[in-house]
Amino acid sequence: MTYSPAQQDYGQDPLSVRDTDKYKEEYVHSFVEKWDELIDWEGRAQAEGDFFIRTLKEHGAEKVLDVATGTGFHSVQLLKAGFEVTSADGSPEMLARAFNNARKRGHILRTIHADWRWLNRDVHDLYDAVICLGNSFTHLHDEKDRRKALAEYYATLRHDGILILDQRNYDAILDKQIEPTHNYYYCGEDVSASPEYVDDSLARFRYRFSDGSTYHLNMFPLRKNYTQRLMQEVGFQRVTTYGDFKETYREHEPDFFIHVAEKRYIPEDPQ
Ligand SMILES: C[S@@+](CC[C@H](N)C(=O)[O-])C[C@H]1O[C@@H](n2cnc3c(N)ncnc32)[C@H](O)[C@@H]1O
Repeated sequence: MTYSPAQQDYGQDPLSVRDTDKYKEEYVHSFVEKWDELIDWEGRAQAEGDFFIRTLKEHGAEKVLDVATGTGFHSVQLLKAGFEVTSADGSPEMLARAFNNARKRGHILRTIHADWRWLNRDVHDLYDAVICLGNSFTHLHDEKDRRKALAEYYATLRHDGILILDQRNYDAILDKQIEPTHNYYYCGEDVSASPEYVDDSLARFRYRFSDGSTYHLNMFPLRKNYTQRLMQEVGFQRVTTYGDFKETYREHEPDFFIHVAEKRYIPEDPQ
């Protein structure tokens, strides 16, 4: 296993760093520790309500693969709700943290260290649902990687499985240059998350903590329609997109979009 370096390093020209593999170095130990501060679990659980549990149940899902486990928030919420959960992530640092977080709450995580681009090399099972949450898919900087990751998620789903994938509302950021109200989703106190720089292929976010420490993430700004199209192109039959957990919304208002992509074949309506 490779462990992340002690400090973030974007070199002389941080805006030129647009590399899918960079995520392994971005989540340095101190940032991972602070991540739990950033995503205050209780506040986040309140903001999300039962959206994910309800959606999974509506689709009859019991066995769930969390491909972007991070520090374990959703894996633990779903274990608590009685789902059978496997927790994957490409960062061993994150998985170690998630394992400890779960243990503190009385759960043992079943973890798999796996990169999404070759997920099925390390995951040898089929699931009712794959979840990729917390604006994680945005870490893939190349279209080739995005297509491959979606194809790998698709392959690990049963014939009628669903993928739940969320993303920031980058359309709002790209089109109107407004700063999303991060408080809705990431509810940590004394933490600010804001886009420091944005263009068509880079959203560089700054995370500033109450102790003065600052970290960055360089991400790809996914437009909502683009993500939906990619999902359909890899074979998902229907994609339903919610805005901040609601079915109806004004395009630029939500902070986050949540896509629910169904694999089950849906025949055309007979005319
Ligand atoms: C923003 S964190 C989100 C964590 C968690 N889902 C949450 O909502 O709190 C993104 C996670 O995606 C993982 N990740 C990013 N790119 C990845 C890749 N190509 N393969 C596997 N994991 C990846 C990172 O290691 C990190 O743990």
